[in-house]
Formats: sequence, C-alpha cells, structure tokens
Amino acid sequence: MTSSARRVPIEPQAVDAPLSGTAVFLVLTVRDAAGAFDTVRSTLAGVADVLKNVAFRDLDAALSCTVGIGARVWGELTRGPAPKELHVFPAVVGDRHIAPSTPGDVLLHIRAARRDLCFEFERQLLDLLGDAVEVVDETVGFRYFDVRDLLGFVDGTANPVGQNLPDATLVGDEDPAFAGGSYVVVQKYTHPLDRWRALTTEQQEAIIGRTKADNIELDDAETGQKSHKTLSTVVVDGAEHDILRDNMPFGSPAGGEFGTYFIGYARRLWVIERMLQRMFIGDPPGLHDRLLDFSTARTGSVFFAPSAAFLEAMDDDPAPSGPADPASAVVPASPPEPADGSLGLGSLQTAPE
Ligand code: HEM
Repeated sequence: MTSSARRVPIEPQAVDAPLSGTAVFLVLTVRDAAGAFDTVRSTLAGVADVLKNVAFRDLDAALSCTVGIGARVWGELTRGPAPKELHVFPAVVGDRHIAPSTPGDVLLHIRAARRDLCFEFERQLLDLLGDAVEVVDETVGFRYFDVRDLLGFVDGTANPVGQNLPDATLVGDEDPAFAGGSYVVVQKYTHPLDRWRALTTEQQEAIIGRTKADNIELDDAETGQKSHKTLSTVVVDGAEHDILRDNMPFGSPAGGEFGTYFIGYARRLWVIERMLQRMFIGDPPGLHDRLLDFSTARTGSVFFAPSAAFLEAMDDDPAPSGPADPASAVVPASPPEPADGSLGLGSLQTAPE
C-alpha cells in the first residue's frame, strides 16, 4: 500500500483550506491550574462542533480552524506518546539575525472569507476555554491585494498543489499513529517598511528571487548571497522538499506596525527547520537571507496538528488508565471462578488461528 493510499481514510484537519481573505493566529499556553488540562482537552475535542455552529451562518465564507498542540503539553493533553519529530522550537542563531523560540502550547489557525465569522468563532472558543488558558499572542491577518505581503511581493506562489499538497504536508506511514497530521511552525515578523522602500525595485527583487510586478522567478545567483527563494528551497539527494505556507500580512499604519505572520505546514518538521537554518545562518554560513535585514522574527513556536479524528477522540476515556465508571474500576483480588467449574477458556480453545 502506498503512503498516499494509506492516508485517504484519515481525515486531516483543514490544513489545505484555501487562502482566505482574513485569518486569526491565536497562540495560547495552558495555565498551571486545577482542571485546566481537562477544560482544554474537552474544548479542543469539540472544536468541530463550535466550528459547525458558526460556519453554517455563511457557508460561502468557508470558515475553518486548524488546532495545533505544542510539545510541552502534548503528553498531558493527549495522554499518549508524541509524534516522532515534535519538540519545542529551537532558536536559530545566525551571525546577524536570530529566530527566537517563544512559548506556545496551543495554536488556533482560524481562516474565513469574512472577518466576523473568525471573530465569532474565536469568541465562542475562548468562552469555553475560560481561564484554563492564557493568550500569548493574537494576530489578525488580512489578504493584501493579489496575495501580496507588505513588502509588495506575491507570497505563496511556490506552494505545492494537487497530490503534492498532501504528500508535503501530511504525516504518512513513517509515523502511523499520527498519520493525517501535520507539523506547524509559526513566526511573527515585523518589517521596517521605510528602509525596504528605500531600496530599488531591482534590489528588492534580487532579495526575494522573483520580479515584483508580475511574480516571475529569477535565476538562482551563481555566487554571493542567495535570494530568499533559493535559501528556502531544501533539496536532499536530488529531491525537493516542499511545505505549505499561508503567510498573512498584519499591522497598523497608525501604530507604525507592518508585519508578516509566517505559518508553515509540513509532513516533516526538519524541512522547515532546514529552511530556517539556511535563512538565518546562511548558505554558505555567513551569507544569510537578506530578507531578514528587513524582517525581524519576534516569535517562534512549533505545533503538531493531529488528524480530525485524533482531535475529536482526545476527550474519550483513555483505555490504559482505567474505565471512567468507578464501579467497574474495582479490580478483583483474584480472577473470578467460572461458574461451570471449567478452566474458563471457553471458545478460545476452538477459536480459528
Ligand atoms: C518563497 C516572502 C518567510 C519559506 C517566498 C516568496 C516570497 C516570500 C515573496 C516568493 C513567492 C512564493 O513562492 O511564495 C516571505 C516573507 C517572509 C518569509 C515576507 C517573512 C518575513 C519564510 C520562512 C520560510 C519561508 C520563515 C521557511 C521557514 C519559503 C519557501 C518559498 C518562499 C519554501 C518557496 C521557494 C521556492 O520557490 O521553492 N517567500 N517569506 N519563507 N518562502 Fe518565504
């Protein structure tokens, strides 16, 4: 059975939701308080119901929410082992720029065509979570013209499409218990737009690796500092490893804040981490991504977005740690005697191989 065939019956969350008009990136930590984990567990398991409530009010707006869970709380929240690669975001320290690691236990990536649906869904969910969580960051992103970032470039063009999309984003047979899930990395960047604007269009294009007006890919640089497009391309043994990005601009002209919220979904976490090393440390080391001279990473967290079925079952009674019914939790001191005086093997003796 191929890995793509294996994944078909395992419904992922809405990882591949279409690029939306608006989004909310909500990063939470679970409070160290009695009952907090129970509240978070049951709320996250019920996200699909809340989503249905709100999404139904305008189905054309395609409201979706992807839930990610961080390494710090994975064990306590899911009461099971963690996906193979899941760990806390490791800071990446280059000569000139740093990708910091910041707290984050739960990520809610809420997308829709309408801001009010995102708002309402977030409100209902936070009501349910109550004081079991602390909001670390809430960023509201918006679509900027023809899918441009605030630097003025079309962002997201090289995303995988068709069958390449699940192949690049969903865990398969390599970690069967987590098939249909996806690693998610988020980073919040801010830009000194005035300095970026002081560059010529040609300088900006050389940094990104694409033309600004019509988004045409430029050739890779033969020598010297490579473009963002080249540094964020990861090729191992001749195979290119893609990720899915759904970056969104955010900010406030009045507040002087101009940003890009980076979000990357990947089947293999190491692919995103390799991209970050190539950007921050450089290739060769020392020749970093010049996009970072105009983009400061303020946050950095890793999550795993399990399959929809995994998320929904999170609140089920955990099998190994005993039944929920206290009466049946009483373990007899010795096995009960069979009423018929036999060895009690019953039909097992004749069961087919
Ligand atoms: C490509 C912007 C951060 C990974 C691009 C492109 C733009 C862009 C304009 C070219 C068009 C496209 O293919 O989408 C930005 C901005 C960032 C940012 C404004 C933050 C300030 C990152 C980070 C990563 C990343 C942190 C990965 C860890 C990629 C990849 C491509 C890409 C994989 C496609 C490369 C290819 O052509 O195959 N980015 N990016 N980007 N970026 Fe970024």
